[in-house]
Amino acid sequence: MLQRIHEVSEPVIGRYYLVQCLQSVKPGLWLPVIGPEHEDAAIIKFPALHCHYDLRFFPARLLASKHLRDYTEYPATNPLEFLMSAPVLTLRGSSTWPDSARGYYWFHISSPVPEWKRRKCLRETPVFPWYPSAKGWPRQLEACYANVVLKDLDNPVCPHRGIPLKGHGQGDQVVCPGHGLKWNLKTGRMVSRLQKLETAQEGEITHDKALA
Ligand code: FES
Repeated sequence: MLQRIHEVSEPVIGRYYLVQCLQSVKPGLWLPVIGPEHEDAAIIKFPALHCHYDLRFFPARLLASKHLRDYTEYPATNPLEFLMSAPVLTLRGSSTWPDSARGYYWFHISSPVPEWKRRKCLRETPVFPWYPSAKGWPRQLEACYANVVLKDLDNPVCPHRGIPLKGHGQGDQVVCPGHGLKWNLKTGRMVSRLQKLETAQEGEITHDKALA
């Protein structure tokens, strides 16, 4: 019997799991998503309801499509990185979409209600892209969760918007695929990525537009 992916600590590439998917407007194309539908007006200033792709299961043929490659622009360097920061909008509450959201409305869906589908794990979760110059909402996000301790370390869920943390990297530390918070799964505490980035000074990249 197939396991639901959020119950798996270390998914195996090439193995099948049950994954939540949203039906796209294209017949037969279901988009793998992770965590609940949510908005984020307060911290990220992104009021549109959306879901995040589960990129471990995102079809390789779509990543290679001209459609997506043409849109992969600075600061994203590849389609996976771009899709991490451009979630699928779920069509509800469209009157509250910011103008900047419309350009990222990549794959149109026909229903906001996910279904469990059998899908093959194709890759590890990419690390959510935060850059050294991330001075806007990533800073606020880290500040909000600096003193939070995860409640259930057996089934950890990111307290920001409820994305399951299990299976997104090996070892004790994971970066949430939702908006990039890093968590230590042994202590339950957040680990600052910005501090490290600031120390490393890896260059100046502006990314506010892409990281909605
Ligand atoms: S759900 Fe937003 S950082 Fe985890």
